[in-house]
Amino acid sequence: MTERVVIVETPRLILGTWLPSDRDLFREINADPKVMEFFPFRRSHEEADTFLAKLNGMLKEDGLGFYAVVLKETQEPVGFCGLSRPNLPSVFPEQTVEIGWRLATRFWGNGYATEAAKGLLDWAFVARNLDAVISFAVEANHRSTGVMKRLGLHRIEGLDFDHPRVPDNYPHLKRHVVYAVTRDEWKRQMASRA
Ligand SMILES: CC(C)(COP(=O)(O)OP(=O)(O)OC[C@H]1O[C@@H](n2cnc3c(N)ncnc32)[C@H](O)[C@@H]1OP(=O)(O)O)[C@@H](O)C(=O)NCCC(=O)NCCS
Repeated sequence: MTERVVIVETPRLILGTWLPSDRDLFREINADPKVMEFFPFRRSHEEADTFLAKLNGMLKEDGLGFYAVVLKETQEPVGFCGLSRPNLPSVFPEQTVEIGWRLATRFWGNGYATEAAKGLLDWAFVARNLDAVISFAVEANHRSTGVMKRLGLHRIEGLDFDHPRVPDNYPHLKRHVVYAVTRDEWKRQMASRA
């Protein structure tokens, strides 16, 4: 693919399909211990390349997927933001959709993750008519739960869970908290902010 297919545009960002030129940024994100602090794995450059190819494949199938987040002004990729199915049947119903984000550390602290996710949630609820979107993170991942709170997602207290795919030898990464927003709540929030 040589041209980026744009899914969502926000004031400063474009969310779209991945280009071969995004490869270095994707490698950087997957190998940086600070970005991966709350994940029990790292990806080698080769594994990151394979995963990137898979992500673009997933985009074509059903529209859900992890999109490149790109600065409009410079066309520079900064990370990704996406919608996916958690595929955790012991925790969430099959049709559940989650939103997630990951930026290269040099782009943290600019509001880009919240801006990208807000654009994607608007798209999810208006263009794709989803009923609700959840997000979850390791309890101590305050940067990520901060994004959830800034977006207006609310914590579902009874849904804290131990992530079944986190190996037992990473006990500090097991416990996750869950936040959610419904389409009606999102539309009400947008109307009251307008
Ligand atoms: C989670 C993650 C995406 C959050 O990134 P972030 O840049 O902190 O989040 P935001 O986009 O909401 O930016 C908010 C920060 O930008 C600041 N900011 C600066 N300019 C801003 C602007 N124009 N608009 C909004 N916020 C702005 C805010 O004050 C806030 O700063 P603070 O962190 O000092 O409080 C990032 O930390 C990350 O990639 N982490 C690793 C991967 C990860 O854990 N992903 C989640 C797994 S569940």
